[in-house]
Amino acid sequence: MTEQATPFWIAGKQATGTDSFEVYSPYDGAHVATVSVPTEDQVEEAVAAAAAAAKETADQPAHVRAAALDLVSRRIAERADEIAALITAENGKPLKWARAEVGRAVSVFRWAAEEARRFGGVVQRLDTDANATGRTAVIRRFPHGPVLGIAPFNFPLNLVAHKVAPAIAVGAPIIVKPAPATPLTALLLGELLAETDLPAGSWSVLPVPNDRMAALTADPRLPVVSFTGSGPVGAMIEAAVPHKHVTLELGGNAAAVVTADYASEADLDWAAQRIAAFSNYQAGQSCISVQRVFADRAVYDRLLEKVVAAVEAQKTGDPTDPGTDVGPMISVAAAERVEAWVGEAVGAGATLLTGGGRDGASYEPTVLAGVPDGAKVVADEVFGPVLVLRAFDGFDEAVRLVNDSRFGLQAGVFTHDLRTAFRAHRDLEVGGVIIGDVPSFRADQMPYGGVKGSGVGREGVKSAMEDYTYERVLVLTGIDL
Ligand code: SIN
Repeated sequence: MTEQATPFWIAGKQATGTDSFEVYSPYDGAHVATVSVPTEDQVEEAVAAAAAAAKETADQPAHVRAAALDLVSRRIAERADEIAALITAENGKPLKWARAEVGRAVSVFRWAAEEARRFGGVVQRLDTDANATGRTAVIRRFPHGPVLGIAPFNFPLNLVAHKVAPAIAVGAPIIVKPAPATPLTALLLGELLAETDLPAGSWSVLPVPNDRMAALTADPRLPVVSFTGSGPVGAMIEAAVPHKHVTLELGGNAAAVVTADYASEADLDWAAQRIAAFSNYQAGQSCISVQRVFADRAVYDRLLEKVVAAVEAQKTGDPTDPGTDVGPMISVAAAERVEAWVGEAVGAGATLLTGGGRDGASYEPTVLAGVPDGAKVVADEVFGPVLVLRAFDGFDEAVRLVNDSRFGLQAGVFTHDLRTAFRAHRDLEVGGVIIGDVPSFRADQMPYGGVKGSGVGREGVKSAMEDYTYERVLVLTGIDL
């Protein structure tokens, strides 16, 4: 291992191991950094420290946790340019999207500070039956214990923030395992956590390879596993530790529905621009990027023309250029997979309306129509810059098409009709329905997660705080409300 390898964090302290790996830019293959890998003994040290810190962190006053979270929020904002540049370097995400991600992480830590101050309990009256006269319950939430947070590559900062900030807010130690392709931003976040007064042992960042994840997941001292990533890995985790509290944020093939009432030029321009931008942001590598677009036949042709034009207007290229909309995918292999899926659809009769080309890890923003049911670009999660258009006749059919998926994360419905909005909320089998916009809208305080193959549990600061904790009831006798 070289002298310059980026250290990792064990129990709030920097350390290096005996092994290392390299991080390269997905855009041009440039070397970004060498990262040190913790040994088995160092992982053991981090887990033992987390277990040992659990009581101290749980007992910390709210103002101490909130102050730490506020500090991290402020420091992310102060180092925003540097962090955004690092995200772009290791992930290939265009700078404008990296900056947006940094801004979101500032809010996640700020929200967590606010929620930490509010995280109290509720009083429940028990005297509703004669035998409980004079009794009152106080219900408070307590941490399950240390959390293992396993983060994906597509938001190297903000999806780490969504695991770390709620853990600090509830007083649960956390061990972060960043994605092997993008460990550097999580390691930089460690520098900011190290500026806080959080107890030693309350956090570690361990860039261990994926083949060492199973042992960490199975460790009984980490009773909560919060995983964001692919469906097959999520299923393996669930099967391996059925007795643990597991949160899974998995994939999706998110749909945007454009209804017949969304028919003015301005309406369709807005819908087309949002669809084009959010099927391609981060090269489509978001669980809620727009993949399936269903438009009422009354507006389909006009929408199609506008979507194709808006997709073709996306500026592709160097992610460090602030004007770039669409950069590379995470690897050449990922882009090759998307190329093969598009090829399969076209081979089965789909029409390629634009895109379809690949240059290394960069895949062109692509629009398909007439895709047969069952083709991977419809039925599976593309996780690439590809969208598929299809017409429907009436909202009943739109509901059927959206729900005809093994996923259910978020859906977007472009409508002005409040009845359609409530109908969509009632009938779409997803974790979130976005009216007047794409499914990709996410405010970080709102509950976020899916049904069916999209996972279990919810993130969003307060929801994750609930996931990391359990209710404990205190029954008081001789207290009349
Ligand atoms: C995800 O890909 O699941 C996260 C999307 C987001 O936070 O915007």
